Amino acid sequence: MKTLMVTSGKGGVGKSTIAVNIAVEMALSGYNVGLTDVDIHGPTDHIILGVAPEIMTDGTHFIPMEIGGLKFMTIASGVGEDKAVIWRGPLKAKLIDQFIKDTEWGDLDYMVMDFPPGSGDEPLEVLSVYNNKIDGAIVVTTPQKVALGDVEKVINFLKKMNVPIMGIWENMSYYVCKYCGKKHFLFGHSTDDLAQKTGVDITARIPLIEEIGQDTGISKLFLTRSEGELRIEFGKYVDEIMKKLG
Ligand SMILES: Nc1ncnc2c1ncn2[C@@H]1O[C@H](COP(=O)(O)OP(=O)(O)O)[C@@H](O)[C@H]1O
Ligand SMILES: [Mg+2]
Repeated sequence: MKTLMVTSGKGGVGKSTIAVNIAVEMALSGYNVGLTDVDIHGPTDHIILGVAPEIMTDGTHFIPMEIGGLKFMTIASGVGEDKAVIWRGPLKAKLIDQFIKDTEWGDLDYMVMDFPPGSGDEPLEVLSVYNNKIDGAIVVTTPQKVALGDVEKVINFLKKMNVPIMGIWENMSYYVCKYCGKKHFLFGHSTDDLAQKTGVDITARIPLIEEIGQDTGISKLFLTRSEGELRIEFGKYVDEIMKKLG
């Protein structure tokens, strides 16, 4: 099984949207895929998947939810939607540990993990569960200058922990005007500076997509559910990750 972290230094840049769409794309390609929402304080993957989270157990193990071939675990199953999770370090670590180790995942080809922003307890605990060996990470950012300092810190953290970085994914990269058809780079091009400074390539650029932002029509799974150019491009990005993971 290959493990993939989806991370960033910033919140609200599209980590969860991208992590879920990657996992779904892998499952659609016929692989056995697990998805864990490690964002304990702000789990959203169930919302993106459009499922009501529920925890199941056979007495000794957790049983992940199954959504069309994708196996899924989220802390949202254990707490009400409106409840704040106030667990601190050690308890949080134990929970992450259980979610990964004590879950009946079966034979997985890929485990995709969606993280909260930054280099806190969650990535450290996941690294320790996997004996400090994670097969790859993608770092999500938006092109705004304010995002880049924090994202650089996460890149340095991943380097320090020897997690292979499979590229920077620039989300909300541009907007294709529905009237004139041109690409507008609303937030500028600062990600290029980040790539240069850190030596990590930008391996994907995802535009601002009205359907994702407004959650209308084919919703937040737009990248895997839509048809057309972007769908094909996204498929290529995910293929590339799978190749790099080996
Ligand atoms: N490419 C995109 N186009 C439009 N809206 C997006 C895009 N990516 C993410 N969003 C929206 O931005 C918000 C934050 O995305 P989310 O995936 O929850 O970020 P994070 O996990 O980094 O906090 C959500 O409302 C999501 O639907
Ligand atoms: Mg998120």
